[in-house]
Amino acid sequence: MIIYKSREEIEKMDRCNRVVAQILAEVAGQVEPDVTTADLDRLAERMCRDAGVRPAFKGYRGYPCVLCTSVNEEVVHGIPSPKKVLKEGDIVGLDFGVVLDGYFGDAAVTVPVGRISREARDLLGVTRESLRLGIAAARPGRRLSDISAAVQRHVESHGYTVVREFVGHGIGTSLHEDPQVPNYGTPGSGPVLKAGLVLAIEPMVNLGGPAVRIHPDGWTASTIDGSLSAHFERSIAVTEDGPLVLGGEVEGL
Ligand code: CO
Repeated sequence: MIIYKSREEIEKMDRCNRVVAQILAEVAGQVEPDVTTADLDRLAERMCRDAGVRPAFKGYRGYPCVLCTSVNEEVVHGIPSPKKVLKEGDIVGLDFGVVLDGYFGDAAVTVPVGRISREARDLLGVTRESLRLGIAAARPGRRLSDISAAVQRHVESHGYTVVREFVGHGIGTSLHEDPQVPNYGTPGSGPVLKAGLVLAIEPMVNLGGPAVRIHPDGWTASTIDGSLSAHFERSIAVTEDGPLVLGGEVEGL
């Protein structure tokens, strides 16, 4: 069941997602060679404390950390570790959420570690752009799969693939609400988009094939073929005037 949000609720979610975006941008700015993914998690946890918000992921289905940090061929849900040292040329996906005033915010960005290959830079650019196009399709009167199709079309036109096993989602007083938002599909199907629908749109894009496997830790998802993967996510509201990116445009995301 889709839970549509009032204007007041969307304002609360905007505030919540602004905190998400600001903390995520700060953490992304600390990414450099020799930093560990546990360092980034610690920073995010401290910033939550300072901001007076509750991290959304820690304890969610037993997830042990505040951030998800997914390096290179890791797609999503990488668990921060003091043993995972970032090195020049890596890419790292940072996924982060908080709860403020009863509402969830959720966002992700994939960032370079120092200088990266042309191949990796292009993957990041196309994945970021596919999120932008998915958001742009979130207009009242259009249908849910128009978002999915916009993401998939852009990704595949560049020869990359979209991950099928993980999807975007409705978000509100829970981290995951209906509807699911796949990053693939044919346009013109699914629910008609109406003002008050709030979605986390999150393309996961692989340089090689779309298939993923889950590590023995029960969380980390990696590409089966070992190819690089990128992930970008924002929470957005459908309004009469079109899509509203909750938390606004924050430099560094
Ligand atoms: Co999400």
